[in-house]
Amino acid sequence: MIAGRIGAPVRALVRRSPRLNAALWDTQYALGFWGYLDEAGDGAMPLSLIETWAPHPKILDLGCGTSANLALSPGRYRHYHGVDISRRAIETARSLNRPDASYAVADIRAYVPPDRYDAVLLREVIYYLSVAEAADLLRRLPGLLTTRGRILVQIYDVQRSRQFVEVIRDCGLDVATWLPPEAGDGASDAFFVLAPAAVAES
Ligand SMILES: C[S@@+](CC[C@H](N)C(=O)[O-])C[C@H]1O[C@@H](n2cnc3c(N)ncnc32)[C@H](O)[C@@H]1O
Repeated sequence: MIAGRIGAPVRALVRRSPRLNAALWDTQYALGFWGYLDEAGDGAMPLSLIETWAPHPKILDLGCGTSANLALSPGRYRHYHGVDISRRAIETARSLNRPDASYAVADIRAYVPPDRYDAVLLREVIYYLSVAEAADLLRRLPGLLTTRGRILVQIYDVQRSRQFVEVIRDCGLDVATWLPPEAGDGASDAFFVLAPAAVAES
């Protein structure tokens, strides 16, 4: 109970420091906390969703983790660039030897990628940032997109996915597509496709 009460503020403090934050994530990967994500069965979904607006896309995956759960068939994407604060996660990602891929160990709150992308992915990562940090990042992302580019956000938690809609309203982005989680026990993740306000579909 007490651990639960102090846990959240301590985590918030740690996350303010990129070095401590990186160490925290590295430790979690070392302890195998996130191993189950590698087995997650819905990895093909992001690519088929991206192909609805950008066939053969150039993809930036922010907070990519090991990326092992992201099915990217060779030939169906132009380039994949994965970024994560955990060196350990990126080592695993590199060991997958994905073709046409590059990686960076970096804090996405400050990271400036080398290119523009058809899809910027934020899969199960946005809620590890404070609301202000998430809003800051979302405001920067349109500058990283190609003319056909969009942002894909994945959130497993129904409550958090509803709160997220409030956050994006202020960020110059429109929700082009929102696939809410299914109701009931078999709830799946929510997916948001975000576009700069001027190009969003009505
Ligand atoms: C729950 S895991 C999700 C990993 C992957 N996107 C997936 O869906 O399987 C969250 C990831 O976000 C990364 N992360 C958290 N805060 C970050 C930050 N400020 N900069 C870069 N990566 C971050 C963590 O290292 C971790 O790999």
